[in-house]
Amino acid sequence: MVTIGRSLLEVAETVEEEVKNTGLGLAFPVNISLNSDAAHDTPSPSDERVFAEGDMVKLDIGVHCDGYIADTAMTIDLGNQPLLVEASLSARDRAIEAVKPGISIGEIGGIVQNEIESRGFKPVANLTGHGLARYTLHMGPNVPNVRMNGGMQLVPDMVVAIEPFATTGTGHVSDRSRIEIYKQIEKKPVRMPAARKILQSIGDNNGLPFARRHLPVPKPDLALRALCREGILYPFPVLGDCAGSHISQSEHTLIVTEDGCIITTA
Ligand code: CO
Repeated sequence: MVTIGRSLLEVAETVEEEVKNTGLGLAFPVNISLNSDAAHDTPSPSDERVFAEGDMVKLDIGVHCDGYIADTAMTIDLGNQPLLVEASLSARDRAIEAVKPGISIGEIGGIVQNEIESRGFKPVANLTGHGLARYTLHMGPNVPNVRMNGGMQLVPDMVVAIEPFATTGTGHVSDRSRIEIYKQIEKKPVRMPAARKILQSIGDNNGLPFARRHLPVPKPDLALRALCREGILYPFPVLGDCAGSHISQSEHTLIVTEDGCIITTA
């Protein structure tokens, strides 16, 4: 569906509908991040953006079955930068080939960095792969996208997402002002009716992230800000590199076995 002229909102809603139709749950809102944005963008409730020629589109999807999460991402190039797409894809696949008990996360970072740099790009140093557990999307170990000395060693049964990002920019992302994704981190009573309605609509989703788009409140921004201030919600601002840069991303989730790993998102 990611083609020139198609709306981002239509793609996001279609994917999320498809997930629900399988009887599984969304582990997080579909992330659709463009060009210099690396992650954490998803359409707003009335998003009018359409894919344009030249866009470097990252689609990051998470599904859970009874809390057990599969997290995967791919890049769709609507321009002509095949080497940039190949850089993160190859980094991910070389890293996965090396996964086995005893390998350190630092070594995996080295493999990722080499694959990306040998194609003339930079890995995004302040984004990492991550461990996963039931209803927990991000936990240790953080799997770096750059070389590190040592670090935790992988052991059998560990569930890990490996997700390299390759960029034409600086290799560092920072918070944008745009926030579309939140998660609940604390349960406390609130007074503001709109805030109450938001918390009710999130319900008991085990702290998994949700989108502003999913809320039944027409103008939720004031209440969302209040809930973040109160420490009840945690915001995920869009993360991006410098203006004019392009970023690609590839991600798989895997389970470490005695002699390698099983990819759960292939
Ligand atoms: Co991930």
